[in-house]
Amino acid sequence: MRRLLPLILLAKIVAFSGIAGATEPEIAATGDYQKLCGVCHLPDGKGIPGVYPPLNERLGLWATEEEGRAYLVKVVTQGMGGTIIVDGQRFSGFMPGVGMRLDPASLAVLLNYVLLKFAPEVDVQPYTGREIERIRSIEVKNARDLRPQDSS
Ligand code: HEC
Repeated sequence: MRRLLPLILLAKIVAFSGIAGATEPEIAATGDYQKLCGVCHLPDGKGIPGVYPPLNERLGLWATEEEGRAYLVKVVTQGMGGTIIVDGQRFSGFMPGVGMRLDPASLAVLLNYVLLKFAPEVDVQPYTGREIERIRSIEVKNARDLRPQDSS
């Protein structure tokens, strides 16, 4: 018991220093999202009509399939341009590859956060750093070529 006490104290400090029960990776992911994505797609993921597409359920549906998973990683690491249709709306913007600023493990945490927050209704297998690394090493000229076609 004497040896356990410091551990219990430490656990309490960690628990009380977090935002309402959030774990440390969750807090880190929230910050990364606000910094790297939220400036355009907005904190609530709703985007701006005709300018920045919303991040919603379709991302979760894509993440249930191999090609869709690769697409999401490629978009955030390579960026993308060209016209896309989302929920019947046309977007012809440019997204920079901001995800390259994160190491694979942190990007996995960020993407899992995005999926959990904006596509909670879809049961998705979480990304791992190893999967991110594997997908990053695949050469794709334009991330858009991997975009699943079921979104228009
Ligand atoms: C500078 C603004 C900007 C930032 C920062 C940004 N995006 Fe984007 N994002 C865009 C734009 C614009 C598009 C649409 C590009 C197009 O029209 O081809 C887009 C497209 C996407 C798509 C593809 C949507 C689809 O339907 O195919 C995903 C997914 C995405 N962004 C996620 C993210 C995530 C996650 C981050 C943070 C790591 C992020 N974006 C950061 C502007 C941004």
